[in-house]
This record gives sequence, structure tokens and C-alpha cells, in this order.
Amino acid sequence: MSVLAVDAGTTGVTAVIVTEDGRIDSRGYQEFAQHFPEPGRVEHAPEEIWQAVLAACRTALDGSDLTPACVGITNQRETAVLWNRADLAAPRRAIVWQDRRSAGVCTRLREAGHEPRVAELTGLRLDPYFTGTKLTWLAEHDERSWAAVTSGAAVVGTVDSYLIARMTGGARHVTDASNASRTLLYDLTAGGWSDELCELFGVPRAALPEIVPNHGLAGRTDPRAFLGLDLPISGLAGDQQAALFGQTCFAPGDVKCTYGTGSFVLINTGTEPVRSQDGLLTTVAWQSPSGEITYALEGAIFVTGAAVQWLRDGLGLIDTARQTQAVAGTVPDSGGVVFVPALTGLGAPHWDPDARGTICGITRGTTRAHLVRATLEAIAYEVRDVVEVMTGAAGLAVPVLKSDGGASGNDLLMQYQADQLATPVERPVVQETTALGAAFLAGLGAGVWSSPDELRETWRLERRFEPGVRDEEAYRRWGRAVERARGWA
Ligand code: G3P
Repeated sequence: MSVLAVDAGTTGVTAVIVTEDGRIDSRGYQEFAQHFPEPGRVEHAPEEIWQAVLAACRTALDGSDLTPACVGITNQRETAVLWNRADLAAPRRAIVWQDRRSAGVCTRLREAGHEPRVAELTGLRLDPYFTGTKLTWLAEHDERSWAAVTSGAAVVGTVDSYLIARMTGGARHVTDASNASRTLLYDLTAGGWSDELCELFGVPRAALPEIVPNHGLAGRTDPRAFLGLDLPISGLAGDQQAALFGQTCFAPGDVKCTYGTGSFVLINTGTEPVRSQDGLLTTVAWQSPSGEITYALEGAIFVTGAAVQWLRDGLGLIDTARQTQAVAGTVPDSGGVVFVPALTGLGAPHWDPDARGTICGITRGTTRAHLVRATLEAIAYEVRDVVEVMTGAAGLAVPVLKSDGGASGNDLLMQYQADQLATPVERPVVQETTALGAAFLAGLGAGVWSSPDELRETWRLERRFEPGVRDEEAYRRWGRAVERARGWA
């Protein structure tokens, strides 16, 4: 038996066929367009995401002799999507999690004194990152689309909901608890949509999807809509929670970092939510069919891999992301250059939507190698910033960090990460852990695997990076540069 897993990420869609022993048998990948209509704004066309899903799945299916027994879905979280109930067309582009346009909504709600209550109910904070603030913005600025929502002609959801609607030919409007817990509309401890929050953000509850557990039958694909396939959709989760699952971080204290467009450190905290006053988010990791919720504490860093992408596409300093290791390796250090990649503001633990990218310490001797190296170092510092909150204020132990995602393949970065954390970093054989986690959830839901213990046995270590010398002076320089990046916009 095998599982088809779809990972609809921020910059592209990956589809994989996963075997019963947790191997990836084949894969497909399709990028889609990023729209930047104004500085600070990031949009995706839902139809382009859907077409990328179809293309990636076609490639994965064509590359394998296995016939999947079920489908799992994982997705970029928080992004706000609107679509018509009747024809599933989107009346406007989706507002992406990186988009900062709702900063004013957040300021207004904060000044009105709502933040403590919002944080208490959701485990999150008032930041444009989260779906609810984007929906408020839409209600106030896109009268035509919002009229469709309030009249019931259109619905709202995150990317998982939209894809399930498309895959089921409009039969299902569902999401899961992990995605719901990123919207600012979900009551973290009651485990459902909150009327109080829907009212605060001005979102009609009837427009929101039904919340289903992370594994179990969420719907069936309609062969007319989805590549002629009639399969159960039996697992879904937001991409970071899926990666936590894919890393088999099933026990409290297990922690992973996924190095993608951004980097996200999640630690499993068990069945009790752990609150942070210091910039970490409390979130649902997953919910079982019996209703039991496992929670996580999360450090969400917005721009890491995207900074490497900017070196490639914005500056033309490198041709491929992979090249960063070789280029950075030509210099022993960054030559005093510090790059704070606050290209879409700063997330955890600083939470400053007005921070902007800042490069300090450039001299006449600075070369592209220094800048490339400073970019990799910045990723390691950003991760250290959030792990320090976990082990400091939050009082949790992080004896080892499991790494995954695109940039986890970069040995120089992984070694520097271990050095900066003074903690070993373990990289598994399968680094596409997000898709793997979606496959695991779907396979559990459809009976391909019977228990998490069985899944744990499929996890294989590829390489362990032991911490070496920790450059504390460099980390102090980073802290100073972050202060300069803050409040810029
Ligand atoms: O919260 C945003 C996150 O889900 C995006 O993940 O992998 O697309 O950068 P990624």
C-alpha cells in the first residue's frame, strides 16, 4: 500500500508517493507565481495553486508503479482564501501569510485593549501573519468580495480547505484543528471556532469550514475534479505540524526545525498547552479522531530560505540555492557582515511588522561570499533566538534538534546551527518531512499504518551534527543588527 501526499507550500507544490516503509517512491514539484502588488503585500491566485497541485500530483503518480490507497494534504498556513460555493472560483487573490497589509487592523485592536483576551483564547498574538486580521482587512477594503461572503455565496478558509473543496468537487468545506488554530478565530482550549473572536474580527461563522480531526476520513476525491481518482482524503495538517508529525516528534519535548521559505521550530508539549509571554506561539499540533488535542509551542521565523531566494532572484548573487554552501565555504566567516533578513517584518520572538531587511558591517573588502555566508548565519541566529526562548523563559529542554526542509541539506548551515545552539542537530534520510507527515497522517487515517509507534520505526538518521566552537561575539553582533532593523517601516 502507498499514500499520495500533497504539500502545498508557499512557493510551490510538492506531491510524493510514500511507501509503507516510509520511503518516497516518486515526487512531483510545481512552482506557482508570487504576486507582490505593493511593498509588504504578497498574494497567490488560488487557481494557480490548484493547477500546481494537479501538475505535481500527475508527475508523482506517473513516476510510480504504486497505486495510492489514500491522500494526505498539508499546506502553507494562515493564508486567507475566498471561493464561491457554487463554482469554486476565487473572486480575488489569496492574501498570503507573509503579507503585512493588516498591520493597521492589529494596531487598532491592540490600542482598543483586545490583545490579552485574543492571546488567552488563541495562544497567538495580534499580528498581520494570522488569517483573522487578513479577513478583517478584506471586510473593510474589498466590498465586492466580502459581500459574497456575508451573503453566503462565497466561503473563506485556509489553503487546505480550498484544496479539499477542489478535490471533492465542492462536496466538502473542512479544515483541521492545526490549521484552524492559526486563524485567530479558534478557541485553543475549547477546541472549536469562537463566536467571540468571529465577532471581534467581523467574520461570519457560517463562512468558516467545519473542523475535522487530523487523521480520519475528511472527504473523498471526486474523479471528475481530481485526475480520475476516487480516494479517501484521510489526513491533513498545516505544514509545520505535518513536519513535526513526519519527524515522529510524538512525545512531549520532541522538537524539530523545518528550513523552508521561513523556518519554524516546534516543540511537542503534550496534551496541555504551554503559554509563552516571550514571543512563542501556542498552537494545536494535531487532534486525534477521539478528539484529544496534542499541543506545540512554536517559534515562527518568516524569512530564511526566502532570503536565499532573494540573493538568487533579487540580487543575482547566486544561480541556485544549493550554491550557497560552496560560495559561503570560500570564506572563513562573514567578515563582520550581518544580514537581518526581515524582508517581511520579523516574526518570533521579536514580532515587528515594521522591521525591514538590514545589512550591517559592509566594508570595501566585503564580497558576495561574505554576504552569502551572512545569509546562512542569519538563519542559524534566527533559530537560536527562538530556541533560547524555549529553553529560557519557557523552561523547556531541547537536548537535540531534528532538522528538515530544503535548507537542511546545507551542511555548512547545519554545522553552524549546531555550533550556535550548542546542541546536536539531527538530519533524517527523508528531508521532505512535511509531505511525509501528511502521508503518515493519511496512512494512519486509512489504516495503512496502525499506530504512531509503527511510524517511529521508519525514521532514519542521515547525519548528526555535533556542536563545535560557539562564536558568541558574532551572536552579539546579530543582536545589535536586529535592533537596527526594527521599526524601519
Ligand atoms: O506559517 C507559514 C508556514 O506554514 C509556511 O511554510 O514551508 O511554505 O514556508 P512554508
